[in-house]
Amino acid sequence: MTRVFSGMQPTGVLHLGNYLGAMKQFIALQEEGECYYCIVDLHALTIPRDPAELRRRTRELAGLYVAAGLDPAKATIFVQSHNPDHAEAAWLLQCVARIGELSRMTQFKDKGKDSESATSGLFTYPVLMAADILLYQTEVVPVGEDQRQHMELTRDLAERFNRQYGEVFTVPDVRIQKATARIMGLDNPEKKMSKSAPSEANYIALLEEPKSILKKFKRAVTDSGTEIRFDPEQKAGVSNLLSIYSAVSGQSIDTLVEQYQGKGYGHLKVDTAEAVIAELEPLQARYHQLMESGEIDDILAKGAKQARAATAETLAKMKEAMGLIL
Ligand code: AMP
Ligand code: TRP
Repeated sequence: MTRVFSGMQPTGVLHLGNYLGAMKQFIALQEEGECYYCIVDLHALTIPRDPAELRRRTRELAGLYVAAGLDPAKATIFVQSHNPDHAEAAWLLQCVARIGELSRMTQFKDKGKDSESATSGLFTYPVLMAADILLYQTEVVPVGEDQRQHMELTRDLAERFNRQYGEVFTVPDVRIQKATARIMGLDNPEKKMSKSAPSEANYIALLEEPKSILKKFKRAVTDSGTEIRFDPEQKAGVSNLLSIYSAVSGQSIDTLVEQYQGKGYGHLKVDTAEAVIAELEPLQARYHQLMESGEIDDILAKGAKQARAATAETLAKMKEAMGLIL
């Protein structure tokens, strides 16, 4: 069985971009692989957080994973800090990673490079991500487009470690679902949907009320034309609606384009909103039920045990290879 690993940070609201770009792939892969899905709370600490809020968001993300369809009987769902091997392996890999390559990470350049007060954790963030992945002898990592550079670094670190110290790691492949790799903001289809967007009109939160979802889609920014066709360059807004509608309904973009010929943007907006609501309503119901039942802590305890069991051998191999006495 293929080994699969992916992670998400428990920060901010989870939105439709995360769901279509990342989570839906997680759910599909649990049927064919041995999957580990991690809530990366250590990564969240690279930027100062309110402790109570971080704890709440960590449980919330776990609940959303399960409500969206991840099945704890099929996949391991766990919190990064519950498996101490991640932090330990990250240190070992920090002694393999180079300052030069970490300085070139665009995410670091955008978020911290020019700030004296940025934490050193923010700088070494991609090394912790590499440790997450390599500890599990991962073969496939499903993520969105924005993680491509971090994945290249992960592969470089695995190859360099294997060369310097002997074969310890599997070199993982990235898996990016092309059609949904970049869901764009509803208020500005030139930029990706993001939880850090200045306006709430940018994104659809997974736990958002249907009324609000409909309103946001109705106001989604499109061009001033009338023609419905898929053309992300010239018609970014309409194309984003088509991508979202196709991803939640399972209908191909070509079919939708044909179906909406001559109908105008208004219809497309309302129907896309309704398709999204139909997808999210059962997820929201499951989420609320799950959080009331208190089940989530049991799921995470079981996940932590499975995760620790999966990494012990690789961590020991790393230490041995590097010259530590076991
Ligand atoms: P983040 O919220 O940045 O921690 O991202 C969690 C996961 O969702 C990562 O795999 C991202 O690549 C993916 N993701 C975030 N925003 C989008 C988006 N607008 N479209 C598609 N995937 C996204
Ligand atoms: N850096 C990823 C993000 O911001 C989260 C992440 C941490 C991750 N560790 C990972 C993703 C391992 C995939 C595999 O989205």
